Amino acid sequence: MTNSLDTMGVDRDRLWSTIEELGRVGAYEDENAGTTGVRRLALTDEDMAGRRLVLGWFEAAGLSVRHDRMGNVYARRAGLDDGLAPVRVGSHLDTVNTGGRFDGALGVLGGLEIVRCLDDAGIQTQRPVEVVVFTDEEGVRFETVTLGSAVASGRIPLERARKLADPQGVTVGSELDRHGLSDGDPVPGPEPYAYLECHIEQGPVLAREDVQVGVVTGIFAITWKEIVFTGVSAHAGTTPYELRHNAGLAAALVTVALHEMVSSGRYGDMRATAGRVEQYPNATNVVPGSALMTVDMRCSDAAHMAAAQEALDAAVRRAAEEAKVEASVRITAQSPPVEFDPEVCTALAKSASNLGISSREMVSGAAHDAGEMAALGPAGMVFVPGLQDGISHNPQEYSTPEACADGITVMLRAVCELAGVPALQ
Ligand code: GLV
Ligand code: MN
Ligand code: MN
Repeated sequence: MTNSLDTMGVDRDRLWSTIEELGRVGAYEDENAGTTGVRRLALTDEDMAGRRLVLGWFEAAGLSVRHDRMGNVYARRAGLDDGLAPVRVGSHLDTVNTGGRFDGALGVLGGLEIVRCLDDAGIQTQRPVEVVVFTDEEGVRFETVTLGSAVASGRIPLERARKLADPQGVTVGSELDRHGLSDGDPVPGPEPYAYLECHIEQGPVLAREDVQVGVVTGIFAITWKEIVFTGVSAHAGTTPYELRHNAGLAAALVTVALHEMVSSGRYGDMRATAGRVEQYPNATNVVPGSALMTVDMRCSDAAHMAAAQEALDAAVRRAAEEAKVEASVRITAQSPPVEFDPEVCTALAKSASNLGISSREMVSGAAHDAGEMAALGPAGMVFVPGLQDGISHNPQEYSTPEACADGITVMLRAVCELAGVPALQ
């Protein structure tokens, strides 16, 4: 085979057609967003249908596909020295319940496109290249984010992950069993030489500044908490205020306290969201007897996160007192801020500038599998712009074929550099 590194390029239309085809798996009509969304919650039949489609493409590309006991998939293109640790590229195929077509999918399908480009150009890399699909990045169903990659990195033990349950009581373990994924390779497995991930930005910065790609230097710290307030359901018209034990009031007070904490500016770039609130019995004429709420807190600084958690706990105590209810608090996800490897960031920025693609450094407010992979070795990320202020976790999430191709082109060059191509050495 001839080595045509100079002429190698991403096939924009081929990449785009895989994004479109995968986007039809789990598609649903979202009345709120007024467009078609994607719903492939982790380890559901829809998620597995998405995987089957993509695994078929991996196999057609000649990759050897295996999975670990957490269901994470590794599709391998052999290296000239196949005993070397692989360069991995990937992301996830699961979505939130109101997802778009790009979050996660771009990283996996971009990995496939990179392999196809290497094949087209007849390039053999020194190290193997593996395209990875991590199980349950979104955390919507089993309530902890980046679960599959956290198990792959050793941060969360497999046995703990298997016990996590969705609101219906269905566990990760039973779903892995049902889909025949529990019998894979031991996890954590062999470490990669480096890990790269391309992702839609999910924010407004690149589009506003008209920059083609972001080189991600780090990821915000994350804490998720589940708070349950327990009071007494009672008649809304007859129960005097001083006799109420209103769990819904407590949840509302915490939502307002979060808003005040963030608005105060005392916690730096903190963002806080009460994304899920469920009241019982949820009826117009009944004082809520219980309320379950989740809180998602993110910021770039560990000290700000620690202080904000204390402030939240104090706000929960005050709210419980005011509403005369009991409170219990459980942490469901927690990870420190991540800094990506400076050399990988430099390689990605150099790759962009060599290609005449404009780039800027940025920090991610969203969680990513790359954040977990950074614990195992050098890792880095490329962001591509999203349209409409980068709206994401919404069916309107959109990036263009050109923007996606730019991001994957930058990744392709960096993969060649990290995996070693004789012509580059
Ligand atoms: C995942 O998308 C997250 O950042 O919550
Ligand atoms: Mn994602
Ligand atoms: Mn997401």
